[in-house]
Amino acid sequence: MSKIPAPKGFEDILPADSWKWHAIEAIARELGELYHFQEIRTPILEHSDLFHRGVGETTDIVHKETFTFKDRGGDSMTLRPEGTAGVVRAAIEHGLIAQEGSRVKVYYIAPNFRYERPQKGRLRQHHQFGAEAFGIADPAEDVECILLQMDFYRRCGIKDLSLQINSLGDAESKQRYRDALVKFLKPKDAESKQRYRDALVKFLKPKEPALSEDSQRRLETNPLRILDSKDPRDQEASRGAPPPYESLSQKSRSHFDQVQKLLSGMADFKVNPNLVRGFDYYTETLWEVTAAGLGAQNALGGGGRYDNLVENLGGRPTPGVGFGSGLERLLIALEAQGAQLPKPAKPLFYLIYHGEAAREAQWKLLSELRANNIPADMDLSNRSVKAQFKLSDREQATHCLILGDTELQNQTLTLKDLKTGNQSTIPRAELLDRLKSFLPR
Ligand code: HAM
Repeated sequence: MSKIPAPKGFEDILPADSWKWHAIEAIARELGELYHFQEIRTPILEHSDLFHRGVGETTDIVHKETFTFKDRGGDSMTLRPEGTAGVVRAAIEHGLIAQEGSRVKVYYIAPNFRYERPQKGRLRQHHQFGAEAFGIADPAEDVECILLQMDFYRRCGIKDLSLQINSLGDAESKQRYRDALVKFLKPKDAESKQRYRDALVKFLKPKEPALSEDSQRRLETNPLRILDSKDPRDQEASRGAPPPYESLSQKSRSHFDQVQKLLSGMADFKVNPNLVRGFDYYTETLWEVTAAGLGAQNALGGGGRYDNLVENLGGRPTPGVGFGSGLERLLIALEAQGAQLPKPAKPLFYLIYHGEAAREAQWKLLSELRANNIPADMDLSNRSVKAQFKLSDREQATHCLILGDTELQNQTLTLKDLKTGNQSTIPRAELLDRLKSFLPR
């Protein structure tokens, strides 16, 4: 029979690596609670409309990258490509932000699905640690989210972090900027949409083999995205474009100033006027964190404010801000930087028996140890003592507990430390207390 591989861009997390996931997830949870965010878990499947209305019709993520299908009832469903829209839906649906002045701070650790071309650091299923705060319009909340995110990286041991921030402003500023950008990017002789299209086609036709369809499409639908495109052609086209902050309204400018003021001294950052990020829902502050060692996909995580999203998804107008941080990329960066995650020193006692009576006794002891939270295992298939020792080694046991004729007679067990090879005899009656002393406190 032929083997069935995992789908492209979907990765298994194997037993040898799962401890790393436990370690970063533990840090994420610890920090979430420390900053007084509570965990939320939302379904991985949502109605497709949620992402069309939430994330944005014109974004690459919705336009080209969703896993969308009709379910058996004929409804269009989408595997979530990101966490924010689902969290907003849940907050509205369960009335978490129904009251005037409601404040809710949540975090999540969850998989997302994007139909992207897989490469290092870019998968079709990736996991994010994310946080969202609702009901707090103050710039201090933007900063709290940024600090939580940066703290997460620091506690995981990431070095060489770079935090870039920008502001798109409120709806008014965004529109003003959009207009300015379209004007800038369109050739001067083509004011109307149709004339512009014709001119663009004429302009680009000779370079057709090198053309990016994305740029053409974006120019009409989402010109902002051209600014932070990685495509050198887009970069060339937008060189010298007016930066978004020139279009900021008074209110947005003061919000962004305040964010920078509060962030000063708390985290190093740089204002990047070309930072736009790939979602339509962003308003005001945006940020992205990159780290050394990631290669082309160097964004560890990013976030921003989305003050209109709750209303756009049918809730009462409620400001929101949050971030998402890719966990696969975090692990790649940690490895590239040679950083060590805290590996819990977990003991594992392997019970070795010689003879049938010893086997029965060890089988009982196995349950007793587990009932006392002492990790233990044993061979269940009557192997030779030599084979049992081999197994204990393969299973990476830290100690063996040996029961043979002599031990049975003397009501003792022999404890062997597999690292040092040292052996000691322990009276059966004292066993539990002795073994408990090996457990992490
Ligand atoms: P995002 O920038 O699309 O933002 O994703 C956040 C992070 O998830 C990225 O910086 C990256 O580390 C990781 N990531 C994204 N796509 C992939 C992929 N295909 N493979 C591996 N890792 C990936 C969001 O998703 C927003 N929801 C963040 C947010 C929350 N903004 C406000 N609240």
